Amino acid sequence: MYDIPFLDLPPLVGASGTVQLPGSKSISNRVLLLAGLAAGTTTVHELLDSDDTRVMIDALRALGCGIERDTAHAHTLRVTGLGGRLQVREADLFLGNAGTAMRPLAATLAVLSTLQGGRYTLRGVPRMHERPIGDLVNALRPLGCRIDDLGTPGYPPLALHGAAGGTLALAAPVRVRGDVSSQFLTALLLALPLAARAAGREQDIVIEVEGELISKPYIEITLNLLARFGIVVRNEAWQRFVIPAGSAYVSPGAIAVEGDASSASYFVALGAIAAHGGAPLRIEGVGEGSIQGDIRFVDAAEAMGAQVRRGPGWLEVHRGQWPLKPIHLDCTAIPDAAMTLAVMALFAEGTSRLDGIASWRVKETDRIAAMAAELGKLGATVVAGDDFIEVTPPVGRWRAAAIHTYDDHRMAMCLSLAACHALLPGREADAQPLRILDPKCVAKTFPDYFEALFGVVEAAAVPVIAIDGPTASGKGTLAAAVAAALGYGLLDSGALYRATGLAAVDAGVSPDDEAAVAALAARLPLRFGQGAEAGRTWFDGAKYGPAGREITDELRLESTGLLASRVSALPAVRAALHGLQLSFRRAPGLVADGRDMGTVVFPDAGLKVFLTASAEQRAQRRHKQLISKGIPASIAALRADLEARDRRDTQRTASPLKPAEDAKLLDNSQLGIDESVQQVLAWWQERRPFP
Ligand code: DC
Repeated sequence: MYDIPFLDLPPLVGASGTVQLPGSKSISNRVLLLAGLAAGTTTVHELLDSDDTRVMIDALRALGCGIERDTAHAHTLRVTGLGGRLQVREADLFLGNAGTAMRPLAATLAVLSTLQGGRYTLRGVPRMHERPIGDLVNALRPLGCRIDDLGTPGYPPLALHGAAGGTLALAAPVRVRGDVSSQFLTALLLALPLAARAAGREQDIVIEVEGELISKPYIEITLNLLARFGIVVRNEAWQRFVIPAGSAYVSPGAIAVEGDASSASYFVALGAIAAHGGAPLRIEGVGEGSIQGDIRFVDAAEAMGAQVRRGPGWLEVHRGQWPLKPIHLDCTAIPDAAMTLAVMALFAEGTSRLDGIASWRVKETDRIAAMAAELGKLGATVVAGDDFIEVTPPVGRWRAAAIHTYDDHRMAMCLSLAACHALLPGREADAQPLRILDPKCVAKTFPDYFEALFGVVEAAAVPVIAIDGPTASGKGTLAAAVAAALGYGLLDSGALYRATGLAAVDAGVSPDDEAAVAALAARLPLRFGQGAEAGRTWFDGAKYGPAGREITDELRLESTGLLASRVSALPAVRAALHGLQLSFRRAPGLVADGRDMGTVVFPDAGLKVFLTASAEQRAQRRHKQLISKGIPASIAALRADLEARDRRDTQRTASPLKPAEDAKLLDNSQLGIDESVQQVLAWWQERRPFP
């Protein structure tokens, strides 16, 4: 996950490969609640791990449900439910910005506290307190539920309370509005079965919808999952829903969550725009037979020109018509995925119009206003109304924009597709990077969205920042910190020479045997750790056994540095490592540290920095380092040593140590690491095209 203030996407010019979707948010949170209410233990597979599911899990735990992670399978959770009986009678639940937690938990706890007694407060982030819940409260109060507004009436936070032995007035139909958010109806459908066995009840529970029901596909998900948990609701023309008397939740034992169809929309769109090279973009986790309404987005993408093949649990997308065809669509059924259509409209010949999107205004942010503002920044012409948006692609130049994301995951994900603009005919010269502000907001539903995106795109003009300097100048630390601040990859080229030295020793080859060492360098069996293993390095291959040989610590040894300095003086070795170093240049960008990064390997680097700390300063730093490790050392000796190495390094013929002509010199003798990083980032900002 990119937990940084902004992420710059280079121009994206192609897409192919396979994306594995995370679990559906809508299904995950419904299944969690159902499992938490049912009798028995439910094993949930392929659960989404995100902000919204985390708040639901925390709430269920606070209510006394058993929650157990499967240590072997990160996305499997075992939930032992309450069997409809409250265990914890008082709780203060924080639900973040998760509508899929707030609405159903409000209804559930209102029903249970009225029947069994209890006191609960439900709250969230400030935006959650601006998202309406009044229609749900208004449906519950006539049943006898006691619900207090703790802030603005009609919005969270709420307090729910009741005394043991209470009853619910369920003889008449429960009435709820369906035209603001379908989550109110979903909340009642999930909560009211808990009252279906209340003492003496022989009667079905009937819910009647007032107004035109929006987002019906989400109700379909609810009904489908209720059936999996033993509640078969009769759907009477989307106007009346009947929960049969005597219904009770029963765990299905195990249930697998489908991949998220709304998350799939970004990759379907990416395929329609950028999968032009023969190989399709394959999306796994959702496909034919999906129970999610947003799967219908695929039809809309096809209408705009995408070519899609589908099977159970997968989709394959190719670019078809190009540029795309404009679309005019009522999006009531696919409100979330419709945002992706608004961005696809940038790639269409003509004006697109999306109707039926009033619900955008009450989502994570006012999405109509947000979309209009951000598409406008790119140069598009946007007309926005109460329940529609019209998008005409930019006519003049595409502008390099810094996209605000409004703490809205979908804004970040769908707008990222605008980075494909250089694919439009005649727009190659317009290629610009795209800045996504607060990229980590995708954690709401798709924490690894950008990693997944970078895994399947081909990017043009991937930026490189080259950092070099004499030994012990702190260039490695600086390069790693700059890479982390920008979300860029890191190439520690010295480590490649060090690994080459180790490989020579492993193979029993003399470090001065140029041809033999170069042959080893050309096929270094390196593996770099990912995720939790980031920063660790292995040699892989038959001779190292199945686990490989970890060389992380050995790489850093002084003796390995000496080996590296010998093999790095051999031109054939330098040539052999050239291709490997180039392969590190991947989206979103690269910080490359080492001798010839700015001169030979990446001469087109967007920024070259050369550190020039004095030998005295470097000797003092190295001294401090050694002493802190309990290794005795003298500053004078270290300084003499460094000066000798500087001389050797500057005088050698193969890639001598010298700043690139266009390098920025940074004397960090008097600067802390943070100040050095800030200086490099400031230089980088100056060279970026963002307003
Ligand atoms: O930066 P370092 O200490 O890990 O580098 C080890 C050796 O490799 C050092 O002698 C410099 C050399 N080197 C090189 O010649 N070219 C590079 N791009 C990186 C390192």
